[in-house]
Amino acid sequence: MKKIAVITGASSGIGFAMAKILSNQGYGLVLVARREKRLQEIAKTLGNSQIFVADLSNEAECVRLEDFLKSVDFEIFINNAGFGDCGNFLESDLEKEKSMITLNIWTLHRFTKAVAQILERHGGGFILNVASSAGLLPGGPYMATYYATKAYVTSLSLAVAREFKEKQSPVSLSCLCPGPVDTEFNQVANVEFALPGISAEFCAAYALKQMFRRKTIIVPGFMMKLAVFFARFLPRKLLVAIAGRQQKKKIKKSNV
Ligand SMILES: NC(=O)c1ccc[n+]([C@@H]2O[C@H](COP(=O)([O-])OP(=O)(O)OC[C@H]3O[C@@H](n4cnc5c(N)ncnc54)[C@H](OP(=O)(O)O)[C@@H]3O)[C@@H](O)[C@H]2O)c1
Repeated sequence: MKKIAVITGASSGIGFAMAKILSNQGYGLVLVARREKRLQEIAKTLGNSQIFVADLSNEAECVRLEDFLKSVDFEIFINNAGFGDCGNFLESDLEKEKSMITLNIWTLHRFTKAVAQILERHGGGFILNVASSAGLLPGGPYMATYYATKAYVTSLSLAVAREFKEKQSPVSLSCLCPGPVDTEFNQVANVEFALPGISAEFCAAYALKQMFRRKTIIVPGFMMKLAVFFARFLPRKLLVAIAGRQQKKKIKKSNV
């Protein structure tokens, strides 16, 4: 039987890189994002794909995707659509933050639940929630809301993955926590990375490999693994100050 993977945020970056890999592995794809033309071009290039155009920060659009998924025999769901924003908390646009919180937290939350229920009925499968290394840190000044949304994703994923393991669920839940990755993220978040990023292709290949091994927290790249390991031994206050220094460097000169 044809295996199907559903990827949100498949029109660029990490989601697109995952689509290419899974397509090469013989998966049929459901590609979800807002930019229809981009999705059409990707589907044409990869073949064996269907597109689902939706703004996942919109409740009605999420319900539409959820209803559609009930009739698709998929095995993998990648909760990847998300974005960040950079700047002083008091000057950040509230509507943009609301949209970020809705997409990065609420949409991911609802699809983790709905998809796990569907996959249990299918007899099993994989969910990959895309968080960030930001989600493993206590807070990130100048990118406060984004860090907080990703902390929610890692916390939720760790807890739910444990519940699944304890009940020996056939559904595996993993959480991807990359550091900087070269994608369109910067452009959307209006930042310049302070550290060199890894490629979306490397990040996606590593993440999928670990997902199939049912690993819960996935951190791609040796340097980021090292940073996450040593962060365990530092006081929270110091970690927040270090994160703030790094974020401040990212703010584009024009915004300072
Ligand atoms: N790049 C990094 O350094 C980095 C590091 C850690 C974690 N991450 C996480 O990785 C994930 C993917 O980001 P990326 O780096 O690949 O950035 P990207 O190239 O900007 O990709 C983001 C994807 O999300 C989709 N998206 C955004 N808003 C959406 C909405 N309202 N509804 C549906 N789709 C939406 C975008 O498609 P449309 O615009 O076509 O809708 C796009 O396909 C995000 O969750 C991000 O937080 C990125």
